[in-house]
Formats: sequence, C-alpha cells, structure tokens
Amino acid sequence: MSPSRKRKEPSAPQALVEPGLRESLRSQLLEWYDRQKRDLPWRRTRDPYAIWLSEVMLQQTQVTTVIPYWERFLQRFPTVEALASAPLPDVLAAWRGLGYYSRARNLHRAAQEVVARFGGKLPSTAAELLTLPGFGRYTSGAVASIAFGEPAPLVDGNVARVLSRLFEVEGAPGDRAREAKLWALATELVHGERPGDFNQALMEHGATVCRPENPLCLLCPVREGCLAYRHGRVDELPPAKVRAAPKRMTLAVAVWAHAGRLLLARRAEKGLFGGLWELPAAEVDDDTPDTESATRLTRALGADVSVREHLGTVRRQLTHRALALRLLRVTGRQHPTHAPAFRELRWCTPDEASSLGMSTAMHKALEAAVAAGALRE
Ligand code: ADE
Repeated sequence: MSPSRKRKEPSAPQALVEPGLRESLRSQLLEWYDRQKRDLPWRRTRDPYAIWLSEVMLQQTQVTTVIPYWERFLQRFPTVEALASAPLPDVLAAWRGLGYYSRARNLHRAAQEVVARFGGKLPSTAAELLTLPGFGRYTSGAVASIAFGEPAPLVDGNVARVLSRLFEVEGAPGDRAREAKLWALATELVHGERPGDFNQALMEHGATVCRPENPLCLLCPVREGCLAYRHGRVDELPPAKVRAAPKRMTLAVAVWAHAGRLLLARRAEKGLFGGLWELPAAEVDDDTPDTESATRLTRALGADVSVREHLGTVRRQLTHRALALRLLRVTGRQHPTHAPAFRELRWCTPDEASSLGMSTAMHKALEAAVAAGALRE
C-alpha cells in the first residue's frame, strides 16, 4: 500500500475553538465574574440541595422574584429529607406564585428518589443527576458544575445568546443543529478550572451585559473576540424565537357554599395545575351556556349542581395560556366529599382554603368569589 493510501488512525474530533482563544475567553470571563458578579444568596452556600433548588427556581423565573421564594422554601424544607417527607400539597403551596408547578412536583419526586436511591445525598455527576425526575441537561450540568466542580457544560437562554454572538452561530432557538453546536461549544469552554464559576460567568454575562435588547458591548470583557461584534451583527443574533400566541382557556369554576364553607377540590397529578387545589373547575368554551357548564361540573363532581348566578370572571395571562375563570355560584342537594374527577374534596372556610396549595390564578378567583358574596347560600 502506498503511503498516501495508508488508512489514517481515527483522530480526536476537531476542536471548534482554537486553544489560545479558548483560554483567553475563559480567563476574561472568569476575571470579569470575580469583579462583577451579583451577590446572590445561593452563591454563599455550598449545600448541593440549596444550589439545586436555586437552579430549578431560576429556570423560568427572574432572580429578584426567586430570592424570597428560595429563602422561604429552605426554611420550610431545609434538607432533601425534609422535602421528601413533606406532603405534595405543602410543597405546591410553598411554590405558589412561581408558576410552572411541574417544577415543584419533579423536585419533590426527585427528593424522594435521592433519599431512596442515594441515601439522601445528591449524586455528584451530571450523568447520575440526569436519571432523576426534572433533571434535564441544563439542571444536571448546573448542579454538577456549581455544587460538585465537575466540568459539565450547560446551555440556557442566556448562554445560548452569549455563545451565538461570540461564535456567530446561525439558526433560531429550537433549531437542532444550532443547539448541538451550542452544547459542543459550551463543552469545550467549560473544561478547565472552576467549571461552576465559569458556567455562572457565562449566564451572568448574558443576564447583565450580553442582554437580548440593548446589549452593553462597551462593557463586555470578551468584545475583542466576539465575531458578531466584529461584524456588526450583535442585534441580529440570535434571531427572535417565533412564539405561538397563548391559547385561550376558559374554565367554569364552581363556587359552592354550604354552612359557611366552600367546596375545594384537588386535581389529579398530571397536566396543567396538577396536584393543586382549586374551586372545582371544568374546561368549557367561551360560548358554553350555563346549563352545559352545570352538566360538566356535575360530571366532574359526581353530584348534581345547578348554576344560580355569575360572580364575575378572573383573567390571568400565563406564558402559554390566556386563562378566563368564570365564577359560577352553584348549589346542589347533596354535599359531596369525594368526586370522580378529583383526588380529594374538602369543605373549607375561606381562611382554610387560602392556605391550601393553589395556583395564583385560582387564589385570585377565590378572593374574587368571596368578595362577590360567595358565602351566601
Ligand atoms: N441563571 C440560572 N442559574 C444561574 C446562576 N447560577 N447564575 C447566574 N444566572 C443564572
């Protein structure tokens, strides 16, 4: 075989980032982080559980909103064991106002698995963390790197924006090839010292300097190496995500009073608001007549109800839903204590009701119903 035809040994995949550039980006970002990082409470702890909790809360919620929730949640459930042994409705009650309740349900289930499978100690590698409920690539990378010092990459919305500008990565959020490229870049960059700080530096940079609108390029520590900056494309990258319009969702909400108490129901664990308490509700259309709403509520509650009056409509805008809660004062002859469509029913005073784990939307509905005279019979 001639030398030119000799088969080549398989070589290591080619680096995306030239080593000199990689080292300078890493050290510039880490130095900037050491000088500029915000003093956030979860940066003062080394407790993996507390760090995990912060990462779950931060996934869809702003830092300033998260801080008091994080502090209160840790007071209420100070350890993985405490969380694992708490009833789910108590966990959901502590989550009220943060939204995306599946995060709280997964957190609770994962705590139970950590106790059952790992003796109450969070595993320390991204690969093991990935096997727990609610741990995707992001959360596994965040906890493994920040709490345990593993050089595990992470990409969230902030990191995606920073890397797409630095390396001029094309494609819109959600595009598969783009996501793969971003994760590959994050993987190369995180290798080295202080992986947890490095990941946080990338996120911090995206949150405070490399912002979606009006990025502060003049204050940017990695401007010199930024391809989008060099080519005048910072405002173009990344392209905006095309977001579907929020779906309208109308619920007929039964406001059923009896002897100074209101009927409350706990939803099955799956789906929107799963596991949460509510004034019993059934989905209807915008133009569903009251007789049909009464039929649906009757079916859900397994007890005949009829609609007496409208107490108003509470509207609430979620990211993917435009909710309308139509408050219907209903009555019936029996007073059910269990129902086919719900996990649990309880007759509660308004005070008892408002301490149950309920969504913010339903809490507002409860307040509006009481204000509109719901306790009249
Ligand atoms: N966003 C989510 N987690 C974060 C962290 N640890 N630091 C900065 N921004 C974040």
